[in-house]
Amino acid sequence: MVAMQIAIDGPASAGKSTIAKILANQLGYIYVDTGAMYRVVTLAALRAQIDINDEDAVTQLLPTIQITFAPGEPVQRVYYNEQDVTEEIRSATVTKNVSAVSSYAAVREAMTNLQRLIAQDAGVVMDGRDIGTTVLPQAQVKIFLVASVHERALRRFKENQAKGSNETLAEIEQAVQHRDELDSNRAISPLRKADDAIKVDTTGMSIDAVVQKIKGIITNIA
Ligand code: DC
Repeated sequence: MVAMQIAIDGPASAGKSTIAKILANQLGYIYVDTGAMYRVVTLAALRAQIDINDEDAVTQLLPTIQITFAPGEPVQRVYYNEQDVTEEIRSATVTKNVSAVSSYAAVREAMTNLQRLIAQDAGVVMDGRDIGTTVLPQAQVKIFLVASVHERALRRFKENQAKGSNETLAEIEQAVQHRDELDSNRAISPLRKADDAIKVDTTGMSIDAVVQKIKGIITNIA
């Protein structure tokens, strides 16, 4: 099979990164978590104590930010200027501010360029919001992964509890819904299903069942 580009888009907590990582491992492809990249930029802005709503100030930080990935279990490691920030970029503060940062044109341009560069010479599974529509419109496989707001909030709630967080399910459900709205309504590259993407609703499905379903789709296309 020739190495392909596989784009997996969808709203927050639909299971994109879990599924994308398993697929990449099984296919021997590179896995790129584009949400992590926007999270690193957000973390950099928070650490620099600049106003998140100040687009110019966030833009000026971009040349100082280097983002890299390394394989890891159970999750891929993410580095900001060679410092491992894998856990820190998942904090509630970063999560709360990432939609604003990811709406800025210069941020999107820089991240899109980096994502295309990584996807240039190898098979890739890339997950995000705009991979099928903007970053890799030529991708051979495009999946749009969705699940009900309640189920997505419940997944995040269980993950958070394991980490000792005391956010309630209702709070998480509200935050997930709010982020969906911000991501879907921003001016540049909003969260949207590409016309040629295949929608997969993972509500009530196990991880394994979703992986099998997508592998079936890939086999049909390849
Ligand atoms: O997938 P995630 O929750 O880690 O993504 C964090 C944020 O980054 C999300 O709220 C929207 C933004 N994002 C984006 O705008 N474009 C992408 N390709 C990936 C993420």
